[in-house]
Amino acid sequence: MPDPVVHLVSHPLVQHKLTLLRQKDRSTSSFRRLLHEISMLMAYEVTREMPTQLIDIETPLEAMRSPVIDGKKTVFVVIMRAGSGFLDGMLEVVPGARVGHVGLYRDPRTLGAVEYYFKMPQAMQERDAIVLDPMLATGNSAVAAVERLKETGPRSIRFVCLLAAPEGLARFHARHPEVPVYTAAIDRQLNDHGYIVPGLGDAGDRLFGTK
Ligand code: URA
Repeated sequence: MPDPVVHLVSHPLVQHKLTLLRQKDRSTSSFRRLLHEISMLMAYEVTREMPTQLIDIETPLEAMRSPVIDGKKTVFVVIMRAGSGFLDGMLEVVPGARVGHVGLYRDPRTLGAVEYYFKMPQAMQERDAIVLDPMLATGNSAVAAVERLKETGPRSIRFVCLLAAPEGLARFHARHPEVPVYTAAIDRQLNDHGYIVPGLGDAGDRLFGTK
């Protein structure tokens, strides 16, 4: 088995917007807009190896064969609730994609993931799944979501987050070594409450203004 792959999305635009997003006094609307913009930029990275096929078209000057992607073969899998903050930007770039949802909450005592919702499109065997969750913290939700997703047999799986903790990355790849992770940063560590530090706080609360 080859080594697990982590793609660090180091593009200056992503890094700049991530810095703004981390700032504690940022408003809910500004946080939401920045996450939207970053997700569009990260969609560009995560779809880099997407298969294309040649179709016949005509330019104003002549006929040619030119590549297109089959967006319908992509399924964005949102880990609720913060994952939905990543979705709209991704859909702007791949509008034909299908969307699946996994509902997991974090048991505050054990920090373990508990499932309350799971809905995927039909014919997952023909689709490439891109799992979305801004924060790869303990890794518990990511591990559980990908485990459930694998039961539907997608053609491939990728995982996209904004921030990862080293502990979460290690736990995730211990269980799913073949799933590449795309992240804009790997922060220092988790704190005692399972938050990423320095991090950006609770992504769901900041996205939805619930705190
Ligand atoms: N979830 C968050 O929203 N933030 C963290 O730092 C960890 C998990």
